[in-house]
Amino acid sequence: MPLIPEPVIDEIHTRTDIVELISRYVPLKRAGRHFKANCPFHTEKTPSFMVNTDKQIFHCFGCGVGGNIFSFLMQHDRLTFPEAVRQLADHAGIRLPDRDSAANDGSQARLAALMEKICRYFERMLLDPQAGKTARAYLKTRGVSERARQRFRLGLAPSGWDRLLTAAKATGVSPEQLEAAGLLIQGRSGHYDRFRNRLMFPIQDVRGRIVGFGGRSLDGQEPKYLNSPETALYTKGHHVFGLGLAKDAIIKAKTVVVVEGYFDCVALADAGISHVVSPLGTALTADQARLLKRYAEQAILAFDADAAGEQATLRGIDLLVEAGLQVRVAQLPEGVDPDEYLQSCGRERFEQLLEGSASLFDVLVQSALRRFPDTDAEGTVKAAQFVLPTIAKVPDAMLRREYVRLLAERLRLDEGAVAQELGKVQPRFSAEAARQSEGPRAGTSPQGGRSSTRRSGAQGPERLFTALILDEPARWRQVTQTGLSLDAVTDPTLRRILTVICELEATGRAATPAHVVSRLLEEGSGGLVTELVELANSVDSKEEAFDDCLKRLRANALSRQMAQFREQIRAAHEAGHEVEGRRLLAEYQRRLSARSNACPPSSPGPDRQAAQADISPLQKGG
Ligand code: UTP
Ligand code: MN
Repeated sequence: MPLIPEPVIDEIHTRTDIVELISRYVPLKRAGRHFKANCPFHTEKTPSFMVNTDKQIFHCFGCGVGGNIFSFLMQHDRLTFPEAVRQLADHAGIRLPDRDSAANDGSQARLAALMEKICRYFERMLLDPQAGKTARAYLKTRGVSERARQRFRLGLAPSGWDRLLTAAKATGVSPEQLEAAGLLIQGRSGHYDRFRNRLMFPIQDVRGRIVGFGGRSLDGQEPKYLNSPETALYTKGHHVFGLGLAKDAIIKAKTVVVVEGYFDCVALADAGISHVVSPLGTALTADQARLLKRYAEQAILAFDADAAGEQATLRGIDLLVEAGLQVRVAQLPEGVDPDEYLQSCGRERFEQLLEGSASLFDVLVQSALRRFPDTDAEGTVKAAQFVLPTIAKVPDAMLRREYVRLLAERLRLDEGAVAQELGKVQPRFSAEAARQSEGPRAGTSPQGGRSSTRRSGAQGPERLFTALILDEPARWRQVTQTGLSLDAVTDPTLRRILTVICELEATGRAATPAHVVSRLLEEGSGGLVTELVELANSVDSKEEAFDDCLKRLRANALSRQMAQFREQIRAAHEAGHEVEGRRLLAEYQRRLSARSNACPPSSPGPDRQAAQADISPLQKGG
């Protein structure tokens, strides 16, 4: 991920007020110095969502979600950190240096403006009494309503070789600009329109910008659908048709319906099934699957039920599963696409079809048994082997296990053997799994308000300590005076938060919780901070609490040092280094007594007991 320059982030912080930002989405009520609301991230009747004006953060006491201006947008609009930065920068009128070239951002914005203009031109042409007559009649035969035309901004590229070229020239747009927008083709005798006599489906990105077009032939000219070439705005396989419009409905339903065609998408949305998208001419890509995962938990594939459709479905299943979506498949009658099904059977029947859609597992097993119908041992094993690669892509280990059990049961195979075979198809996946289980990484998702550091009692002082430093970074000075370092904090997430605070302080930048969150978001984490801020707020006497934390951290650090000592002593003993062993032991005992003098123990303490147990063989031996 390209790093966004820190001064830019700081500038956005300075110019954006979290109260102003959040109130654009959620009605905020004043509560003393701060603001509250019903949490937009979970359902509740009494407000537990708080916006802290001083600290410029928000936190929900109900669901634990929290963060700063960037995390709010990331979670509310399902944006990535760079996307959230871009949006807030735009809003604050701050120019972002682009990751590719400084000129790129400006040229992208110009191209987006041009695409918008062209979209309007196509819309006008469709409405033109003369030029648009046939196309409008065609839309009517396809059952596309006026409302759907407006919603999807359908248009017409009129017939003729230079209609757009001429119209654009008249408004001062050059052929080169149109070519860069993917709308002109450079021929031997000059430029000509790429889309001629085609019904135009504008392709929007998630921000609602028009990035390309798909055009359906109105006169039988091949290909039936012609799509925009790649441009500075449009990358094939990145965008999903209909997503900009379907986004909210998808979030609400937690489900996205994926269909193959433009018309399928338009027709379903028009019938009120608005959480629908289409992957745009190409087979579904991994990028598209990941994009859908931002909004949906579940995907229902409604592809044509022909052989090509089945292939597309199986490929689609794998990608969606890998992206972490639950997958189901709507079973359309053979040779019928969603649009046709809807036109002939109506909305209700279609909804029933969606509700009755088959589970991923059933679809896979059905396909496998169709391919390998023999019920002998070989046939059964082949069927299992057909299913396993997809199961191996299921990110959730428990679910994977459950599928193995089901598969073994269904095919009457030995469960252990199936699990073993799954292990063999897994390596591609296990790298991912290894990365996921790599140490405790609390709040790695922007939603990660709930920390994994909460579970251990030993981390109590570390948590409160970090919370109090966040609350007042100047407290760090007290820490260095006592000779403690960052190593005193063992939890990696808490230590990372402290490191960020120290770095910000050391470079003379603001180290407020909101700034700390930004730094962590950039690294892909960012949860936990607001939870810690609230923890600090809940403490009555902060100075006393901090002193206490310091004492306990010191004690823990010393314990760890002593444990290391014991380890060294044992190692020396095992290696037969008697002299070294005795030297270490003397040093160990010296420290032990220094320590008990410094802080009179109420009990012998774990170190003393452990030391006794650990070193007794050495003492006996020596
Ligand atoms: P279909 O041929 O099934 O089209 O292609 P459709 O959506 O049912 O279209 P109508 O109903 O005949 O108008 C499905 C999708 O595949 C892509 C388009 O995205 C289309 O909607 N496609 C198809 C192309 O990109 N190019 C083609 O030549 C054909
Ligand atoms: Mn169709």
